[in-house]
Amino acid sequence: MAMRKIHLTAAHADADYDILIGTDLCDGAATFAAEKYRPHACTIVTDSNVAPLHADKVAAALQKVGIEPLVCVIPAGEEHKNIQTLQHIWDFLLQHRWERRMPIFALGGGVVGDMAGFAAATVLRGVPLIQMPTSLLAAVDASVGGKTGIDHAMGKNLLGTFHHASLVVADVNLISTLPRRELQSGLAECIKHAVIADANMFAWLERHLPQILHFDPASLAELIFQNVSVKANIVAQDPYEKSIRAHLNFGHTFGHALEKVVGYDKLPHGYAVALGMLAATRLSIGLGRCEPQLLPRLEHLIRAAGLPMTVEGYDPRAVLSAMYSDKKVASAKLRLILPVKLGQVTIASDVPEASVIDAIATVTTVGAVSA
Ligand code: GLY
Repeated sequence: MAMRKIHLTAAHADADYDILIGTDLCDGAATFAAEKYRPHACTIVTDSNVAPLHADKVAAALQKVGIEPLVCVIPAGEEHKNIQTLQHIWDFLLQHRWERRMPIFALGGGVVGDMAGFAAATVLRGVPLIQMPTSLLAAVDASVGGKTGIDHAMGKNLLGTFHHASLVVADVNLISTLPRRELQSGLAECIKHAVIADANMFAWLERHLPQILHFDPASLAELIFQNVSVKANIVAQDPYEKSIRAHLNFGHTFGHALEKVVGYDKLPHGYAVALGMLAATRLSIGLGRCEPQLLPRLEHLIRAAGLPMTVEGYDPRAVLSAMYSDKKVASAKLRLILPVKLGQVTIASDVPEASVIDAIATVTTVGAVSA
C-alpha cells in the first residue's frame, strides 16, 4: 500500500508536521527521530494492552537506527488517565536523565496519546513528541491537533496543554489488531467529522462500512486519510479552539456527561459520542434548526456501525448537571454544537434547559426511540 501524507501547519501554534498513513511505518518513524533529533535514547510510552502487541516492533526499529528504546508501560483504561499515571511517566523520564532533544513516542490509543503528550509538554518545559496511534479513534482524532491532558474527578480532560507532535504515524498494521468495540468507538468520531464538515464522506461511510468493520486495510487507510484531512484543515484554521475547532465537539458535551454519569469503564468514549450526536441532532431538529432528513441517516449509520442508540435507566437531569462541568461551558451557559444539515453545524448558547433534558431523555429512557 502506498503511503499517504497530510501536512498540518499552524505557524502561530508551533504546529508544522506530517501525518503519515499506510503500513509498515515504524522504520520511517525511527529514522525521522534519528535524523531530526540525533538522540541516544527515546521513551516509548504505551499501555498494558498495547505493549505486548507492538512495543517490540517500535523498539526494534529504534535499535536499527542506533537509538536505545526505553519502554514506559502505563495501566490501560480511561480510569488511569490521571495525575498518578502522569507522575509515573514524569518519574520514568527524569530517572532516565531525560534531555530536551530526546523524543517521546506515544504508542497507543487516545488515553496514551493524551498522557504521553502532556508529559512531553511539561518535562523540561517540552520535549519532542511522535504520535503512533494504535486505535482508530487516536488515528483520526486524538493524535492530530496537539491537545494533551488528563481527567479530574470533576470531569474529562479538565487539565492539559496544547503540544503538537513533530510527526504522526498512522500505521494500519497497528490498528488492525484493535478489538471490534474500539473500532466502533473510533467510527463515532469519523461519523462526527462527516456530519460537521463533509457530506461526501458521510455517503462514503454509508457505502464502505462493511469493509471497514472487516478491517480491510485499504478501506481503513482511506477512512483515516479522509478524517485526518477534515481534522487537520480545522486545526490549521483554529489551533486553540477559539472558533471553528469547537465544531469538533459535536456530540461531546452530551457524550462527556453520559460517560461521567454511566461510568468511564462502562461506556466507551465513542459510544458516548454516538449517543451525544443523536441527542444533539434531535434537539436541533426540535428547535427547527436542522434539516429533519439528517436524523434517519445518522441513526442508520450509527446502528450499522454497531454503536448504541440508547443507554437506558439514567436520569436526564443528572446528565444535564454533568454537562455543566464540561470545559466548553462559558459564563455558566451550555455551548452546544448543533447540526444544521449534513456537513454543517452551528454553535448555540441559547437552548432552553427543558429542551436539552428532552433530548437527553431520547437516549436514556427505556423505549424512547423506536428502532
Ligand atoms: N478532539 C477534538 C479536538 O481535537 O479539538
